[in-house]
Amino acid sequence: MEKGIRNFEFQNPTKIVFGKDRIKKIDELIPTDAKVLVLYGGGSVKKFGTFDRVVKALGDRQWDEFGGIEANPTYETLIQAVDKVKAEGFDYLMAVGGGSVIDGAKFVAAGAVFDGNPIDIFGNGVGKGLPVTKAVPFGTVLTLPATASEMNNNSVVTFVGKQAKISFASAHTYPQFSILEPELTYSLPKRQLANGIIDSFVHTMEAYLTYPIDARVQDRWAEGLLQTLIEIGPDVVDEDNHDYALRANFMWTATNALNRFISQGVPQDWASHALGHELTLAYHIDHARTLSIVLPAMMKVRKKQKWEKLLQYAERVWNIKEGSDEEKIDVAILKTEEFFAILGAPIRFSDVGLKEDAIPGLVAGLVRHDKVNISERGDLSAEDSYAVYKEAL
Ligand code: NZQ
Ligand code: ZN
Repeated sequence: MEKGIRNFEFQNPTKIVFGKDRIKKIDELIPTDAKVLVLYGGGSVKKFGTFDRVVKALGDRQWDEFGGIEANPTYETLIQAVDKVKAEGFDYLMAVGGGSVIDGAKFVAAGAVFDGNPIDIFGNGVGKGLPVTKAVPFGTVLTLPATASEMNNNSVVTFVGKQAKISFASAHTYPQFSILEPELTYSLPKRQLANGIIDSFVHTMEAYLTYPIDARVQDRWAEGLLQTLIEIGPDVVDEDNHDYALRANFMWTATNALNRFISQGVPQDWASHALGHELTLAYHIDHARTLSIVLPAMMKVRKKQKWEKLLQYAERVWNIKEGSDEEKIDVAILKTEEFFAILGAPIRFSDVGLKEDAIPGLVAGLVRHDKVNISERGDLSAEDSYAVYKEAL
């Protein structure tokens, strides 16, 4: 029986600049002689004035822009930014947007100075999975709390041609700094607010809902994040509720869910994410909306393997004290589903118009992307993943 926090080495170098009116600090954070490429998405940052504030903060520095990075950023688009950085000699990147823009910037930062073909940064059947040894420095302005990409080194990229959605991470792809202004969330529509709550919830669960090893700080930190999300979620998804304290809690919880603090030295799962990525790839379902479908089914199918942590989750996160252990677990799973549903998210295949005939293709994708024998013990087979999808019908 494994017991005790595992060996780990951890360094998170990203400087967080949090609060009101922080974008102007960019002037102090980027070298004055830097040539900066500002990366952004489909235009929300221009519409709501964030882009102009960033440009103002850049002052006299040389800069240019690269827009059009999609939600679920594609290699095909990002490689154009890589070429631009190389051809025009940018030496600093500024990502202004949500997880997609920030993830995209990480690949551009690594790809622009990669010795070889940038596709080989990725493994999982797409490229050679070679290590990243350097990257162009970059900062971020976060506009959507969800992924914690603003304070981690992970980047998820979609390959349209190869039909894959896979990630890479390296010690060189942490942002130098991230600006977190909770007021930037005021322009988010309900659906994206719900996405942020759910993605943060499931990030915490992937690091928490495994098996206990007596890692008390990680457990209690995770439980605190989950309880905060449960408390604030219903108010956060009211897009007209521009309460600063509420949105500040939302933004900082999302960052903490995946800045890797809670996952040091403990087993992790990430199978819900793997199954979710196949749903996004095949049916263009928002990342978080795949997770609200997959996680409850995962909890049901993997009840035996996750028994002790499910019970701890029921008792400590949902305060369920009555009934047998199994009854407590079942109520906790039900409450998790209800929570996602209250936020307006789908919890079944039928909620997104999918049926059982979708499953073989999804499982084939998992096999193609080397996502078999996953989860905290590496024992979630392709057949088990089939069962999880089926449970979610
Ligand atoms: O593109 P624009 O016009 O900017 O609009 C975006 C986009 O349409 C909009 N938006 C963002 N900020 C806004 C806003 N609209 C109004 N007001 C604002 N303040 O929201 C839409 C979604 O944005 P996106 O960046 O795609 O969302 P999210 O932050 O949820 O990122 C999703 C991507 O991150 C990956 C996902 O797989 C997906 O590709 N993930 C990254 C992770 C990481 N780096 O660690 C972990 C996650 O598990 C996840 O896989
Ligand atoms: Zn996620």
